[in-house]
Amino acid sequence: MSPTPPAPIRLGVNVDHVATLRQARGTPYPDPVEAALVSAGAGADSITLHLREDRRHIQDHDLTRLISSSPVPVNLELALDDETLAIASRAAPRFACLVPERREELTTEGGLDVAGNLSAVKDACKELADAGILVALFIDPDPRQLEAALRSGAPHIEIHTGRYCERDGAARETELGAIRRFAADAARAGLEVHAGHGLTAQNVGPIAAIGEIVELNIGHALIARSVFVGLPAAIGEMRRAMLSARNPAETDE
Ligand code: PXP
Repeated sequence: MSPTPPAPIRLGVNVDHVATLRQARGTPYPDPVEAALVSAGAGADSITLHLREDRRHIQDHDLTRLISSSPVPVNLELALDDETLAIASRAAPRFACLVPERREELTTEGGLDVAGNLSAVKDACKELADAGILVALFIDPDPRQLEAALRSGAPHIEIHTGRYCERDGAARETELGAIRRFAADAARAGLEVHAGHGLTAQNVGPIAAIGEIVELNIGHALIARSVFVGLPAAIGEMRRAMLSARNPAETDE
């Protein structure tokens, strides 16, 4: 009997940093919506964007334009903030991911403390679910957070891979082991498991090889690489790195 093939793995392309470049000059270009269309054409399975409270990159009009024109599902990252939750519910992207947010941070630091904010997380999950949105919680691979996520009503989690990406050698292996065990526990408990943050074509392989993880959300490294090779080629490189780790016997192109 031949072994069961691994579950497919999807790539969500985060277009925030296209907007970062635009906001640096206050020009109308480059447009994250154009980046989304190019990404979808190059094999992105979904488009992710983060509407931050300080609007440092993505603006409200990007969200509405993206939802009306993206050929692939839109995944909105947002904080536990009443105003942003109301915007998300009105815009109704297919997916949303609840993340922690601090004004002074360079990027999202660490996962959401679901265990410490369970009642607010539950309310946010209900509000978003009532708007027809499938919700993920961005959490560290910590069993306490998994237990809380299971009580929150969210159908999906996204594992924060930042610590795995920042470390190397034995410390990276330790993080990878924790992510593997956590993904298996979460999937066994019935959650759909995603992962992201800090992933590059060089470090994505061991994460993509974890069979329970069915989606990766990647932004900074893709947009940075696209400066040199173009966005379609950067996405192609990332997809090949993911797919060859997922199923070493087959490559996609
Ligand atoms: N997933 C989540 C929840 C994030 O907050 C981010 C950063 O916006 C990413 C994935 C993508 O991280 P990176 O830009 O480092 O690929």
